This record gives sequence, C-alpha cells and structure tokens, in this order.
Amino acid sequence: MTTITDGKVLVINGPNLNTLGLREPTIYGSRTLASIIAELEAYAANGDPGFAIDSIQSNHEGVLIDFIHERGFDALGIIINPGALSHYSIALRDALSAVKKPTVEVHLSNIHTREEFRHHSVISAVATGVIAGLGARGYLLAADWIRHEVIAKAGTSA
Ligand code: DQA
Repeated sequence: MTTITDGKVLVINGPNLNTLGLREPTIYGSRTLASIIAELEAYAANGDPGFAIDSIQSNHEGVLIDFIHERGFDALGIIINPGALSHYSIALRDALSAVKKPTVEVHLSNIHTREEFRHHSVISAVATGVIAGLGARGYLLAADWIRHEVIAKAGTSA
C-alpha cells in the first residue's frame, strides 16, 4: 500500500518568471521567485509528512511539458503560473489534462484588469481553481488548498 502523501506537489513557473523582483515590480511585486519557492518549501516542511514541493521554472514550453509528463502522473497536485503561455499554449493545457491532477493556476497580477489579450487563459478550463491578483501570496494560498482540501481529504490509497 502506498500513502497518498508519497507524491509531491509540483510548482511550475513559465516564461519570464525567473526575472521576478526585477521585472515590472509595480505589476508583479518585488519578491524573487527563489524567495517564493523557499516560502513554499518552508510551508511544506511544517506540514504533513510527505507534503513536499517539486519545482521548476523554464522559459521553454517543451521543458515544462516534459516535466509534467515525467512527474505529473505521480503528483498530488499542481500549482502552475504559466506566464504568457496561459494565453495560448494548448500544448501545456493538454499536458495538464493528460495527468489530470488537482491543479491551481496562479497569476501574480489580476489578468482580468490588464490588457485584453491577457483576459483569457486557455489553462483555466483544465485547472481546478484560479487565483489571480493576490501577488506572491497566491502561491501560498494554492499550497494551503492542496494541503487541506486535497491531501488531508484523500487519506490513503491502495
Ligand atoms: C502572469 C500574467 C501573464 O499575463 C504574464 O504573461 C506573466 C505573468 C502573472 O503572474 O500575473 O508572465 O502569469
């Protein structure tokens, strides 16, 4: 028997999110991605045994898709900020559909109040939920949801 907590929570960040802290801080805030990931890891470390973070950032769509194929089928859940891929990557959406895990799409900014082309995300329809506009805290809220609503309620599996 394996416990459901044997898996990991994938934290996936798409193009340009490696420049957080430098990039348009009035829109995206002053936190670096490293500090956001460190905070999630600390949150996980204080949580239930087995609640661990496995994170990636890439500026390349195919690298993100490969990561989802390699780790997604065994994951407990996924937190993803696809960056600009949100607005056009059917391939990324299909990868998330393939692994079919509880998924939270996170955007630092409120994409709905910005340029028209950001209003639609092709990812949202395959996400369980979407958090937009709450800055870096959105990642933590997503982790909190996965911990309390997904992992805690899932218990054990055969
Ligand atoms: C973003 C919003 C996207 O429109 C943009 O392309 C990003 C970041 C956000 O976190 O607010 O790269 O996903």
